Amino acid sequence: MKKILNAKIISNKKVSGEYRKIVLNAPSIAKTAVPGQFVTLKLGSGNVPFLRRPMSIHKIKPPVIELLYKVRGVGTELLAKYNEKDTLEILGPLGNGFKTDGSFSTAILVGGGYGIAPLLALHDRLKKLDKKIITIIGAKSKTLVNKEGFTGALIATEDGSDGIKGLVTKILSSTCCNLSTDSVIFACGPDKMLKAVSEAGRLHNIPCQISMENLMACGVGVCLSCVCAVKQGLKTENKRVCVDGPVFDAEEIIWQI
Ligand SMILES: Cc1cc2nc3c(=O)[nH]c(=O)nc-3n(C[C@H](O)[C@H](O)[C@H](O)COP(=O)(O)OP(=O)(O)OC[C@H]3O[C@@H](n4cnc5c(N)ncnc54)[C@H](O)[C@@H]3O)c2cc1C
Ligand code: FES
Repeated sequence: MKKILNAKIISNKKVSGEYRKIVLNAPSIAKTAVPGQFVTLKLGSGNVPFLRRPMSIHKIKPPVIELLYKVRGVGTELLAKYNEKDTLEILGPLGNGFKTDGSFSTAILVGGGYGIAPLLALHDRLKKLDKKIITIIGAKSKTLVNKEGFTGALIATEDGSDGIKGLVTKILSSTCCNLSTDSVIFACGPDKMLKAVSEAGRLHNIPCQISMENLMACGVGVCLSCVCAVKQGLKTENKRVCVDGPVFDAEEIIWQI
């Protein structure tokens, strides 16, 4: 059940490359959160920014949750200025999360840029379930790769500054060729990457769950700013990424790109 709470900040530091990690004492959220869910943050003391900012839950370690973020604009600039012992108003856990209850043996995690954020909590969960895990991380360049917590991650960067030069799908395609269909792909990142990952999954007959990061205003299903088009039988329907997602079966999505 979602809760609003003033979470005490345990730390808020630069981790690797352009990423920062904020560790929050949030017992009621940490207790019920599942990998793939997110929280929204009320940043600053006034009306700027007016909207809460969504962030995936990176690690769930009750009573603590961790968020991994990259400074992009007004909200995340403010977030980086919070100090240890300050409090931050957060709402969560929100959204549906990844489904991990299937009978698959191998999980392929594919993260693009800060899309790697929800995949660490998932990685921890899958480890507990004794699944074989293959992690593939993609980014524009080395400073946007965060591999902390992932053992033996395979890396692809567009400029070749870390791992192979190219897109994650280059690694994914060769990985899929060597796997049985007893596998599941879990992906989070930009839409272009998610579309390409979904196509690779379809080609190799491997089911694929994707976590979408559409722009959000309310985060709780009211404003319809986050909708994406999905197949509903022969019809098309709009679903709200904040409450019906952010995780969808890749086969459902009607890509607009
Ligand atoms: C479900 C969900 C989970 C997310 N998880 C994370 C996370 O774990 N770590 C993280 O760093 N970020 C995450 N984001 C994105 C994060 O919410 C935005 O980066 C943040 O809102 C930017 O706020 P800002 O005020 O700093 O930037 P703004 O000043 O609002 O915007 C700066 C730039 O970022 C772009 N932008 C803002 N939101 C998004 C978005 N959702 N997708 C693509 N571009 C965007 C804007 O168009 C603009 O160009 C997530 C978004 C969603 C919807
Ligand atoms: S963000 Fe308002 S309905 Fe999804």
